[in-house]
This record gives sequence, structure tokens and C-alpha cells, in this order.
Amino acid sequence: MTTQELKKAFEATYGKPAEAVYFSPGRVNLIGEHTDYNGGAVFPCALSFGTNLLIAKNDKQVMNFKSLNQPEIVTLTFDQLTTRLENSWVNYPLGVIAQFIKRGVAMTQGFDILIWGNVPNGAGLSSSAALEVVTAYAFNDQLSTGFNRTDLALIGQKAEHEFALVNCGIMDQFVSANGAKDHAVHLNCDTLEFELVPVKLQGVKIVISNTHSPHKLDSGAYNQRVAECKKAVEQLNTVRPIKYLAELTEADFKAIEHAITDPVAHKRARHVVGEVQRTSDAVKALKEGKLELFGQLMNASHASLRDDYEVTGPELDCMAEEAWKIEGVIGSRMTGGGFGGCTVSLVKEEAIDTFIAEVGKNYEARIGIKPDFYIAEIGDGATRVE
Ligand code: GLA
Repeated sequence: MTTQELKKAFEATYGKPAEAVYFSPGRVNLIGEHTDYNGGAVFPCALSFGTNLLIAKNDKQVMNFKSLNQPEIVTLTFDQLTTRLENSWVNYPLGVIAQFIKRGVAMTQGFDILIWGNVPNGAGLSSSAALEVVTAYAFNDQLSTGFNRTDLALIGQKAEHEFALVNCGIMDQFVSANGAKDHAVHLNCDTLEFELVPVKLQGVKIVISNTHSPHKLDSGAYNQRVAECKKAVEQLNTVRPIKYLAELTEADFKAIEHAITDPVAHKRARHVVGEVQRTSDAVKALKEGKLELFGQLMNASHASLRDDYEVTGPELDCMAEEAWKIEGVIGSRMTGGGFGGCTVSLVKEEAIDTFIAEVGKNYEARIGIKPDFYIAEIGDGATRVE
């Protein structure tokens, strides 16, 4: 929907005009998967699609929430703003407001809020982070609270932990807040230092393939991976004090991996240590224009997520395998948390039509689901639109 259409929808919902319009993007991660909560680096881009939030003050001492994808308006009084709801999409904006309150911001002004987004839900492209960050950006602006973009990302991450009950890392919220057009964000998830790296792909495009797999990344499977990595760190601490797996080079890991007696924790740790190295190599390759190498690292990342981290599943594996067969594909891998969701592929422009036709046909024949394809445009982070 256009901004004009959204403003009309706001008026139709609340009987008065919106006072401001905000936007925050979804993301696609090029490489560096399940490294963020292990203190490693990630390399995501903000997308040109995301979530819009329209807002106006009210004098009723309540917060009204309406999503254009949901039938009802949810109304909460000020004393209900720090309690999570059962099974409600409102937990994402509400979790953010609760974080503002925790950080000492008084919520004494009522607002009417309307949300609309075009990030496909459950596709692993961070629709939830886009919603959290757009809410944080809007309240920061409306209440002049002076948080910087990194604070807003941390607020969004805490909202996800406490109101969506997913112990996620910082990647999704960070890139939604700090992304930049035609750049990928090389983020050190331990220090939160980052570099914007120009994505110059000379005749190559980023293609996102949506598996529409019914297996969603649920909080259970994700939190289990987080716990397994923690276990690996605990076992490694018997021979070497580390805080995060990402502190170890591959050589360090080889020397002490015997300390991880739990075989599952061992595999998880091996993925993380390898993925940290691949991410660093990939960023270097992109800067040097070595796209072929970048693609090989993407493929190796997928294999490691499949074999050691075990977060791919038949649909993501099929989508990547079918992509690898196409001439003109530089690299292809799952992106985001995994299980269902999307792959990201680098595809030569002249091969894109064949890619979509062949991968689409073969994936549907093998899995029985019609996939969707999007050519990604790399956009900016959170912003006030009007
Ligand atoms: C999800 C989480 C991120 C990150 C990825 C995996 O998207 O929200 O913090 O851990 O999975 O890389």
C-alpha cells in the first residue's frame, strides 16, 4: 500500500488524520548465520520492504493498536503496558513500549496506532524485528526520548526476549535500525561495532526464494540452539576461559574441541566457529570483488547449517540444491533462523528467468508447494516517512 492509502486507512479506523508515518525494513542475511548470539559477526542487508506505522495522539489515556491484517482494535490502558498478552501480534509493539517504561520513560500520552507491513510473515525475513524497530523509532521520535539507533535495536531485541519469548541475537533489529541503501552491515555482535560495506554486484542480483514451508522457526527450536551453544561454552571453559564460541579460531577449536563431551553441542560449536571464519572471508571477498569465492562460502554455510547446526530441513535443502544446479548461480544458502523461510542466492542477471522457472518447477515437483521469488533491493534502515 502507498503512504496515501495508509493515511486513508488510518482515518477510516480512527476518524482523524495520522500525525506521522514511519517505516522500518525487513532483512536478508548474506552470511553469518546463528553467529550473533555467539558473539560473532553477521552480514545482513536491509530490504526495501518492511513495516509501516502511522500514529496520532489521543486524549483518552489509552494506547490503541490496529493492524491492517487483523480485524480488531486492541485497546490497552497505561497500567496494562508492561504485561505480555497471550497469543497476540500486539506483543511486538507492546514489548517495545514496555522497554521504554523499563528505561524510565513515563507513558502518560495516549496514542492511536495503525500498522501495515509487506514482509511475508514467517518467511525468515524479520517481519517481527521490522515491527519492533518501527515502534521503537516512532516512540523515540514522538516522545523525544533521544535513544540512538543501536539503543532502538537493543530495545527491540529485549521486546522479542520478554514478549515474544525468543532469545534472539541482535542481528535483525540492528540491521532494521542501521541498514543503508545498497550496503550490507558487517556487524560485530559482541561489541556492536559495524561497517557499512557497499554491495556492488556487477551484473548479479540477490534473489530471495520463499519455500512457504509449513515448518516455522518456533521459539522452542531456536532457544534450544542457543542453549546448546551455551553448553558448549561451559564445557570448553573446563580447559579455556571464553565467553563466546566466536572467540575461537578454527585452530583454537581443534586444539580444545575434545572438552565438549556432548556430541550435539560439539556439532553446534563446530558450525559457529566455521561460520565466523566464513563470514570474515566473505566480507573480504566482497570488498575485493571476488564474487565466486563469496558464492562458495555461501554454499559452505548452507552445508554447515544443514549438517552441524541442523536448522535447514527438506524444503530449504531442496531450494538450495535446485539453485546450485543452475548455471549463473554464484551461491545459494538458507537465510535467517531456518527450518522454513527463505534462501538467498546470488544470480547472474541473464540467468534470473531460468532460475525462477527451473528452481520453481523442480522445487514444486519435489516438495509439492509453489514457491515465491523476490529480487531483493537493499534499502535504508528505520525512518520517518512523513
Ligand atoms: C533469527 C534471529 C537472529 C539470528 C538468526 C540466525 O533471525 O532473530 O538473531 O540468530 O535467526 O542467524
